[in-house]
Amino acid sequence: SVSFQEVENPMNGLKSFGILVELAKNGVVLDRNQDTIATEIIVEDEIPTIDFALLKSGTIDEQIQIIQDIDLACKEWGCFQLVNHNIPEELLIDTMDVFSRFFDLPTEEKEEYLAAKLFDPVRCGSGFPGPQQDVQYWRDFLRMIVHPSFSCPSKPPNFRNVSEEYARHMRKISVALLRAICISLKLPESCIEEALGLESCSQIMVGNFYPPCPQPELALGIPPHTDPSLLTILIQNCSLPQLQVLHNEKWVLVNPIQGSLFIIVGDVVEIVSNGMYKSVVHRATLSREHTRISVVALTGPPLEAIVAPLLQLVDEVHRPIAFRATLFKEFITLRNNHSLEKTGLDLLRL
Ligand code: SIN
Ligand code: FE2
Repeated sequence: SVSFQEVENPMNGLKSFGILVELAKNGVVLDRNQDTIATEIIVEDEIPTIDFALLKSGTIDEQIQIIQDIDLACKEWGCFQLVNHNIPEELLIDTMDVFSRFFDLPTEEKEEYLAAKLFDPVRCGSGFPGPQQDVQYWRDFLRMIVHPSFSCPSKPPNFRNVSEEYARHMRKISVALLRAICISLKLPESCIEEALGLESCSQIMVGNFYPPCPQPELALGIPPHTDPSLLTILIQNCSLPQLQVLHNEKWVLVNPIQGSLFIIVGDVVEIVSNGMYKSVVHRATLSREHTRISVVALTGPPLEAIVAPLLQLVDEVHRPIAFRATLFKEFITLRNNHSLEKTGLDLLRL
């Protein structure tokens, strides 16, 4: 088992929750199994890029091509970079900024959100949720429910204006991409929306804050996992590429295109597509010197929706049903209660 040697107070000078510091003082901060990170091979590979403008208003041929690209990206990668999405760059910058300002608040001002529970509207904490007592990760997070009703911390003062607008844009893009995904699955474009009742979709936003880590080669910011969403949209400091995706059993570093959105296919798309599309396993590494922030917006079905493979994609002979049906809310709870990190999907696999 590994433990930090030099950690006395690695976050001196950083206004974090202070929880990571406490854990470090108490001994075990690192996952027992994470001592191989430094030796793992990171491959350079081309993560697909999708041009949103062409999807919306390209020629028929261009649109056909984009749908094929989306099909390939969702089958082979479970993620892609989205460019020409038309979200004002200023809004992306402001969104990163309000989260950054929140993490910068004195601990006392964040404390009220620390005691919150899984379905509470605003919650923050450290590490990665789950029952593992001896496995912690070098991350503080702020998680807020932004749809159907919107919640966020009261500080910084412009948090609400900025993140509410950002969330609205992310929902629109997610729905547009889900329509494209239906078409790429050769189904009517509103198929997923209708099956899951997406007019009242659930949406959360999570800010991830990774302070400098004294031994980044021994630690992770967030462990390998898949997202319990339909689609997740991620933005990050582009100068600190530390997000990696698992592709053909190798870790691939995401080199974000400036101004792009990173789209992660979530578990619910894998379920409704009966396994045709893959929710991608991803993780974040750390830096010795720099603080990194990422902000993710997860769009999912309503909590009371029944999530199950679309019957059109089930064929007893060639593609038997791969997942059992579950309430979305139950899926979230199940996933949270299991120490399973890689994928909550294993809990539903038939
Ligand atoms: C996440 O999976 O929510 C965060 C990944 C990252 O920080 O890049
Ligand atoms: Fe994630």
